[in-house]
Amino acid sequence: MPAIVLIGSQWGDEGKGKLIDVLSSQVDFVVRYQGGANAGHTLKVKQEQIIVHLVPSSIFYSQVTSVIASGVALDIVALCQEIQNLKKIGKMQDDKKFLISDSATLLLDSHKQLDQARESFAGIQKIGTTGKGIGPAYEARASRKALIFSDLFQKDSILLQKLEEQTRESSFLLSHLYKQKPLTPKDLLKQICECRALLQTYRCEDVSLVLHQALEQGKKVLFEGAQGSLLDLLHGTYPFVTSSFTLAGGALPSSGLGFKNFTKTIAVTKAYTTRVGSGPFPTECDSEAGQHLQKQGQEFGAVTGRKRRCGWLDLPALKYAIRLNGASSLALMKLDVLSYLKEIKICVAYSLNGQEIKNFSASSQNISKYQAVYQSFKGWNQDLSQITSYKDLPEEARSYISFISKSVNKPIDIISVGPKRAQSLWINKIF
Ligand code: IMP
Repeated sequence: MPAIVLIGSQWGDEGKGKLIDVLSSQVDFVVRYQGGANAGHTLKVKQEQIIVHLVPSSIFYSQVTSVIASGVALDIVALCQEIQNLKKIGKMQDDKKFLISDSATLLLDSHKQLDQARESFAGIQKIGTTGKGIGPAYEARASRKALIFSDLFQKDSILLQKLEEQTRESSFLLSHLYKQKPLTPKDLLKQICECRALLQTYRCEDVSLVLHQALEQGKKVLFEGAQGSLLDLLHGTYPFVTSSFTLAGGALPSSGLGFKNFTKTIAVTKAYTTRVGSGPFPTECDSEAGQHLQKQGQEFGAVTGRKRRCGWLDLPALKYAIRLNGASSLALMKLDVLSYLKEIKICVAYSLNGQEIKNFSASSQNISKYQAVYQSFKGWNQDLSQITSYKDLPEEARSYISFISKSVNKPIDIISVGPKRAQSLWINKIF
């Protein structure tokens, strides 16, 4: 009964989508358990590129049941659009293979409106959110005013009443503080009712039960993390974080499983670091090397199109993420992007007022004062994208990889050298 969790060990965009896609050929279930349409997982199969936001990245595989668990902030309008687009290109043909938890939180356009109004009001203090309403939707859930997926199938009159209750405070804020015209409960009702017919077929009253039974029958279940560990609401670089629990532990309450069900956690790690939005980033690099990473890595946000900030791999941050997640191994992504750099750096510690600091600090105040201390590595003048086995990598690349693995004391299961499935070097079997 293997249940494996795959999480991002940095600030998101580590390449989780590609890995889920590659591993989906070996599993029965893929579960998306937190976040919402702020995620953008890019999948490339043959010449086809698809970006999924809410639908799990297993969508190319017809044998897999894809599940949206209770912890997800569900933008049903965006989800309907995504499903319709996927159906148009021949995916998601079997409606029985996609399940949505009745208890997932409904994310409404009023949440997006509030998210965007707050960000523009905050000026330079802004978090740099994706504007997808994630914070306000989870706030509504915590205040027990949110609608959940099962509410969508209630009578219109009940829905309208719930919408009136939920928007009372946010409408007040929008009109009086942010000077914007709020969407009315009737506008929202019209919008969400249009989604009912399409989404009805995917309802799942108890995702936890489905997953328990699957595991009891020996099925393989993969949990797909979104965003990254350093964006976790409690353990990330607060307040520059997202509003969900991005760590592997978040998979438990979000899907309704217990500790004993999980057998392995893989920390998906990009061979360098990126960050979108505001917040501290000790290894950020604006020089020629930073531009190389941005350009060769095509580092643009899959949701907002913003340029991602780029920098070197940060080992103290990676060790922190491994500890928080209880990660058993790494998947090293986008190694090919480092090709042709003369020198590659890895941050091995920080310094502050001449003192060496070994550990990452999630305190934004502290970490923004730290200077990165680097170890340099010789680059390799070779394209890696056609290489199919670890032993064929240039010696310099192998030294870089083995330094990372030794420093964090974890094995590396897979190395990715390009966006396609075949551009994956397997070192250890996952299942
Ligand atoms: P929110 O999740 O839209 O509220 O944004 C909060 C922070 O998380 C911002 O810095 C976003 O740029 C960042 N963020 C949210 N989702 C992702 C993601 O999928 N990848 C990378 N950064 C993200």
